[in-house]
Amino acid sequence: MLEFDFVGIVLRWMHIFAAIALVGGLLFQRFVLLPAALPLEESLRKELCERSSRRWSKIVMVSALFLLVSGLVNFILTMQLFKGADLPIPKMYHLLFGIKFLLALVIFFLASALAGRGKGTQKFRDHAARWLNVSLVLATLVVAISGILRTTHVAPNALEMDRAMIPSNEVPSNEVPSNEVPSEETPSKEL
Ligand code: HEM
Repeated sequence: MLEFDFVGIVLRWMHIFAAIALVGGLLFQRFVLLPAALPLEESLRKELCERSSRRWSKIVMVSALFLLVSGLVNFILTMQLFKGADLPIPKMYHLLFGIKFLLALVIFFLASALAGRGKGTQKFRDHAARWLNVSLVLATLVVAISGILRTTHVAPNALEMDRAMIPSNEVPSNEVPSNEVPSEETPSKEL
């Protein structure tokens, strides 16, 4: 029977919905709101930007919080998955995760600076198109890296983990070549 990992599924939903909201919002700002506001008269443009920023900044905060919480829990669960399967964590995993984490922090900073009202971050809003472009390039990298991280423990790599967790004498006979008798000494993770 199919088994569902409810915690894992809810975390995945949280992570994906928050990523869609944040990256989608940045795309909307760059390619819809900004060009549409540009021809407006200065005072009107300022008012539109202030009104939309007030609403958008709340979405940025909630999405960043969801991404951080679900991302960190996901990371711990993935480490446990490797440990439970008695498999070494691929060296590349930590490196890529570190790069992704740093890039995500830069995106959170840029998104909140662009949606903020503080004097210290005004220079980002003065060049909004440039900083939105930077955020979108970083977001593309983050999504690409996430895709690579995932393939380290889903099919076909998940099959290897499953095998590592099954005692060698329980591996289905059709997976053992007919001329080879599975040896008792063979460590199961080498299967
Ligand atoms: C702009 C911010 C972020 C975006 C766009 C993003 C996007 C994604 C996407 C698309 C996935 C693949 C989801 C899936 O297929 O289930 C993913 C997985 C993941 N993300 Fe993020 N993420 C962001 C930030 C973060 C942060 C801040 C953390 C850590 C605190 C994090 C940790 C993770 C982990 C651990 C996974 C699972 C990787 C695996 O399957 O091994 N993410 N992320």
